[in-house]
Amino acid sequence: MAVQQDVAVRAVARVNLAAIERNAARMRRELAAGATASAPPAALCAVVKADGYGHGALACARAALAGGATSLAVAAAGEAAELRDAGIRAPILVMGALSPVELDVALRADAAVVAWDEAFVAAVAARGGGAVHVKLDTGMGRLGTRDPVAATRVADAAAATGGVVLAGAMTHFATADERGDPFFARQLERFAAWALPLKAAHPAIVLHAANSAGTLRDRAAHFDMVRAGVALYGLDPFGEDAGARELEPALELRSWVAAVKPIAPGESAGYGRRFVATTPTHTATVPIGYGDGVRRALTNNLDVLVRGVRHPLVGTVSMDNVTLDVGSPPAAAVGEPAVLIGAQGDERIAAEEIARRLETINYEVTCGLLARVPRVHHHDGEPA
Ligand SMILES: Cc1ncc(COP(=O)(O)O)c(C=O)c1O
Repeated sequence: MAVQQDVAVRAVARVNLAAIERNAARMRRELAAGATASAPPAALCAVVKADGYGHGALACARAALAGGATSLAVAAAGEAAELRDAGIRAPILVMGALSPVELDVALRADAAVVAWDEAFVAAVAARGGGAVHVKLDTGMGRLGTRDPVAATRVADAAAATGGVVLAGAMTHFATADERGDPFFARQLERFAAWALPLKAAHPAIVLHAANSAGTLRDRAAHFDMVRAGVALYGLDPFGEDAGARELEPALELRSWVAAVKPIAPGESAGYGRRFVATTPTHTATVPIGYGDGVRRALTNNLDVLVRGVRHPLVGTVSMDNVTLDVGSPPAAAVGEPAVLIGAQGDERIAAEEIARRLETINYEVTCGLLARVPRVHHHDGEPA
């Protein structure tokens, strides 16, 4: 068995925390540019739900805070508890719907929670109180109340209830990433019409609406704070070129060439014989598959880098392996690194490219990496 040259395990996701810090700083520059004489720059809340979009929540939370984020957001109470248990002191907002048991967990973790009815405010008070952000549904159609009058009632109830702190007022955009879509402006208008008078009545509250795309698309959406996730990981919020937006992809997905063998015309590779050689060539077997999060829908539909060159994935993606056509003579040798996401030499495969092949979004590509792939965090190549 040859010695692997570049990877210590069969497949690894290397995450550059320095890139996350720089992406946070880049978002803060955007917020600074949006400041006016009467409005200071909005604060940056780093969204680290779903294990930091697959990048590792704790390490990414620390990196985002180092890059200038001042608070964190997650979707689930358990995510907040894990961050607290690991020693995170920054404010945490749990954005998701909470069952009674989950509300206990969130409040015990000293996380702020999101309310859109008065019964929920009462439930917070009954558990000893906590910080509450009120959500207006301006068009996303998921959580929050659509009724601004009801939302104001909830906010007033929170402010008037002992132990409960009315900390914020929020909404979420449905089409921020679809530039030119007029619905974004309508949501923005609805939010401002509700939230600005609410802030006049409760000056200490933090108004927030924008995700990454909203932050980059329209400075009028910044308010007091933005909740940015995808951009911090260096993924393009519009599914285009992250580099062109001065965002630096933080995650590389690497494996290695575990076997190289000749394949003659008529011979096949993988389940179902979905690749049958038509000319003499070589296959390279790379030990990563759908059990790691490389989706089976990428069968015969992905390039992988070896020696800085793209090689087509041929045949079916199996649970633990994929095969590449590396030509004749073979342009790959056992032990060489293989890159599925990231750069090698002058070539790069972006999560956005894989998303296009899968007809999905870059978020799902990194969130879809499974637990079997260890996340190795580093700072520009130095051990983190
Ligand atoms: C309510 C809410 N706010 C903010 C975000 C962050 O969005 P993005 O990753 O596009 O910046 C999300 C993520 O889906 C969200 O659900």
